[in-house]
Parts: sequence; structure tokens; C-alpha cells
Amino acid sequence: MTNLILILAAQIFLLVSVASAGDFARTMNQKHLGLHKKEKLTHLRVYWHNSVNGPNPSAVMIQHPVSNSSTFGAISMMDDALTLDVPRNSTVVGHAQGIYAGADQREIGYLMVMNFAFNTGKYNGSTITIVGRNIVWSKVREMPVVGGSGIFRFARGYVEARTKSFHLKSMVSIVEYNCYILHY
Ligand SMILES: *[C@@H]1O[C@H](CO)[C@@H](O)[C@H](O)[C@H]1NC(C)=O
Ligand SMILES: *[C@@H]1O[C@H](CO)[C@@H](O)[C@H](O)[C@H]1NC(C)=O
Ligand SMILES: *[C@@H]1O[C@H](CO)[C@@H](O)[C@H](O)[C@H]1NC(C)=O
Repeated sequence: MTNLILILAAQIFLLVSVASAGDFARTMNQKHLGLHKKEKLTHLRVYWHNSVNGPNPSAVMIQHPVSNSSTFGAISMMDDALTLDVPRNSTVVGHAQGIYAGADQREIGYLMVMNFAFNTGKYNGSTITIVGRNIVWSKVREMPVVGGSGIFRFARGYVEARTKSFHLKSMVSIVEYNCYILHY
């Protein structure tokens, strides 16, 4: 009997201490964030304009590669326009902001870490975050969408990147991004 009381007392003490230690976290009803609704699948197609040595550079190398014969170790920061159509002067709907880093010792392969920050219509202020492997000479590169903000809260999905043009001298490239995004 005394043992039972002691065990009960210990359990109550444990419950109380867990409750107070857990004050920073709580379980919520998903309805409060609209998560009871069916997820939507949104397809976005944008054109990504990266210019290193072109007229209005949008990317800068902040760390040179470890050797001149590869891109391994190079790190560049970008703030690239995203447009509705292929020409650079077509409507800008947002910017791709982030880093691409040479992460492959055998071919030209980048680790892409970027936010697509949209600035048009109902997407204004919303972002998606893309983190993935970009083997630039491959016809289609698939990269995950790992999250988002605004309209794209709780986003997940993937993008397909296809190079439309690349000029070696100016290092100006245009890449089509088809984004498939699940969100609420
Ligand atoms: C790369 O080439 C440049 C000249 O084009 C040279 O100054 C530099 O030392 C080279 N870097 C390496 C790591 O070999
Ligand atoms: C975009 O640039 C092309 C030339 O590259 C020009 O022919 C066209 O008129 C421009 N369009 C707009 C909307 O400025
Ligand atoms: C987008 O949002 C910003 C900041 O709220 C605002 O200044 C801008 O006018 C908006 N642009 C459009 C196209 O709605």
C-alpha cells in the first residue's frame, strides 16, 4: 500500500514536471492553421536569368574553386530575376535568391540552395525553398521543394530545370523552371 502511494506520488511528480518543462510546446488542432483542407497542387513555370559577366550581373562568385579545372568548391551568390517568358525583358514575377556551390568533383554539379521570392498578385511576398543537386549539362534536373512561406506554407514538391540558353563568354544563362508544389 505504501509502495503504491509512493509510485502514484512519483508519477504525479513526473506529470507535473513534464507539464512545466513542456510549456514551450503544445499540440494544436490542425484546423487552426487550415490544415484540415485538402492540399492543392500548384504548377508554376518561370524563367530564371543568371548573369555572371553580362550587362547587369545577378550573381557573384564569393569563393573560387579549389582548382581551375573544375567548379568544385566554388560558391556563388545570386539574386536572379524570374520571368513569365524566355526573354529577359518579359514580366518579372519574382527573384531566385540564394547560393549555388560546386559540390561535384567529377562534373559540373551544384548544390542549389535558393528561395523563389514572388512579387506578383496573390503570390506577392510568398516564397518556396529549393534545395537540390543541379548537374547543369543534364537536359532535365529535378530538385526538391522543401518548404515555403505565405501561400506556400507547408509546401513540398519538386522542380524540373531545363536550360534554354547559355553563353560561355558572358556566363548568361536562362533556365526554365517547372515547379510542382503541394500546399494548403
Ligand atoms: C587559376 O588560374 C589563374 C589564372 O588564370 C591563376 O592565377 C590561379 O592561381 C589559378 N588557380 C589555381 C588554384 O590553380
Ligand atoms: C524585348 O527585347 C526585344 C529584343 O531583345 C525587343 O524586340 C522587344 O521589343 C522587347 N520587348 C519589350 C516588351 O520591351
Ligand atoms: C507586393 O508587396 C509589397 C510589400 O507589401 C508592396 O510594396 C508591393 O506594392 C506589392 N506588389 C504588388 C505587385 O502587389
